[in-house]
Amino acid sequence: MQPIDLRQAMAQSYPGASLGRVLLVGSGPGDPELLTVKALKALQTADVVLFDTLVAKPILDLISPLAERMHVGKKGYGDTRPQDEINARMVALALAGRFVVRLKSGDPLIFGRAGEEIDACRAAGVPVEVVPGITSAQGAAARLCVSLTHRHEARRLQYITGHDTTGGLPQCIDWKAVADPQATTVVYMPRRTIGALAAQALAAGLDPSTPAIVVINATRPNERMVATTVAALVASVAASETPDPTLVLIGQAMARAVLPVVAADVA
Ligand SMILES: C[S@@+](CC[C@H](N)C(=O)[O-])C[C@H]1O[C@@H](n2cnc3c(N)ncnc32)[C@H](O)[C@@H]1O
Repeated sequence: MQPIDLRQAMAQSYPGASLGRVLLVGSGPGDPELLTVKALKALQTADVVLFDTLVAKPILDLISPLAERMHVGKKGYGDTRPQDEINARMVALALAGRFVVRLKSGDPLIFGRAGEEIDACRAAGVPVEVVPGITSAQGAAARLCVSLTHRHEARRLQYITGHDTTGGLPQCIDWKAVADPQATTVVYMPRRTIGALAAQALAAGLDPSTPAIVVINATRPNERMVATTVAALVASVAASETPDPTLVLIGQAMARAVLPVVAADVA
């Protein structure tokens, strides 16, 4: 079989590839086998890769040894580099004629500040495209073998963030929608505000016995999951005591989840 010329393949996929440009690439929740083929090609042909803290190490290992790597921080909280600085660096590299891969966790278009990076590229006349990734909610649902929209139990699926730019609980969340008994709600970045979030949802009428699952490090070797209820959610999140990436999945459909067996459970 002929070896594949990845640079040529990229040039065909992205006409004008010899120009400097930016590709926002989703790395998925952590398992490198969940990368798209397009993402893998991008990692192997980039001139420079700007990556966030949450991008898993086995994925960084797939970057071409010829590419320059730049860790630009950003975990979803406690950003290590201001967004404006990341935008400026990314644009400057592309204007210098380089193929810049901006590598983000999960899907770049979900709670990833991709909008600001796309705007910065457009304002500078830099060609920009997006390669989607599997968002962490989908990675978690797959590991739990549960449908987020199970018929008769969930007719609405909503992704919400546990914090806004100030670090507090966003004031504009539609609490009636979160309290909808036929909704599945996935809370990204829940750690700091889960107490206030649960209190607001209960005050809006959410049944305290509604199933909830805390998922830490979804799809990674150190994955952990705790099945609980909304009433016990605060204690469950607090007990997990970790700075690692965490999601909370809430809704009646979550009663069908099957928690993966981990080695420690078997021993
Ligand atoms: C800035 S947001 C980025 C979300 C990402 N764009 C996505 O689509 O998953 C960071 C948050 O995503 C969630 N997250 C990312 N990877 C995760 C994982 N492997 N397990 C659990 N949560 C994860 C956590 O809530 C984390 O605080």
